Amino acid sequence: MAITIKQLHPLFCAEIGRVDTGEPMDDATFAEIQAAFEEHSVLVFHDQTLDDEKQIAFSRRFGPLETAGKANPAAGTHFARQSNLDIRTGTVIPPEDRRMVYQKGNYLWHSDSSFKAVPSLCSLLSARVVPPEGGNTEFASMRAAYDALPDDRKRKLEGLVAEHSLVYSRETVSTEALTPEMKAELPGAWQAMVRVNPVNGRKAVYAGAHASHVIGSPRQEGRALIQWLNDFATQPRFCYSHAWLDGDLVIWDNRATLHRATAYDTVRHKRLMQRTTVGGDLPTVKQPERYELAEE
Ligand code: OGA
Ligand code: MN
Repeated sequence: MAITIKQLHPLFCAEIGRVDTGEPMDDATFAEIQAAFEEHSVLVFHDQTLDDEKQIAFSRRFGPLETAGKANPAAGTHFARQSNLDIRTGTVIPPEDRRMVYQKGNYLWHSDSSFKAVPSLCSLLSARVVPPEGGNTEFASMRAAYDALPDDRKRKLEGLVAEHSLVYSRETVSTEALTPEMKAELPGAWQAMVRVNPVNGRKAVYAGAHASHVIGSPRQEGRALIQWLNDFATQPRFCYSHAWLDGDLVIWDNRATLHRATAYDTVRHKRLMQRTTVGGDLPTVKQPERYELAEE
């Protein structure tokens, strides 16, 4: 039985029906999901029966998984844990705790792992505990944004490269978010500012909160361009807001979308989302021998 596809936004995002990603899946069904992923950039699945093991098994069909870095509470595993619940005790983490401050970085529009030399293909976020209100995840189509850019802006972006860094983006939120040990693991990366989908040739702006400056441009000028692009791309007309239900799985294309978390009452409500992240296959541009350290 084929999957069903229902468009959720005029420009991107689709709800996929008649499939449980927690069950073994034949290649033909997976191929339909992959085709929908390339086409719609964000896929929403309801009533999934995923646990950690099944999520890893399904995610691996897209490619090899990334391992969470030192900054995430689930460091060393294939999960990035987005939660206000302590991983050992299950109790609510106080808002001033470094782990909660670190998660505030997710309120900024970003593309997962854009600070890695080989950035992520896609992320899969599975809702395990959903707060009764708040805590939506919002998505912006960087393809729709690219298409809507004025032609001279498109031409200027061609061939431009930006440096992306998690240290940079987290420090725009708080200098306490990362320890020196975490920073040592995060050199940053260079990325093309326009990405082309290998299946359908569609172009997307590639920027987001980790993008710090443009290589070869004065730092403030590059930063202003990135800010302009991020603001342009995240206008409401290019965005979809996902209100989570228990059992939802959302898959997004990190090459063609930005996303951000939205607030919820982290003291009164519980939220637990498990993210698996599928790695990409190649750097988007040749990497430098050594990254310039961000001086102001
Ligand atoms: C992520 C992320 C947003 C959220 O998992 O990569 O940014 O709403 N999550 O938890
Ligand atoms: Mn994210």
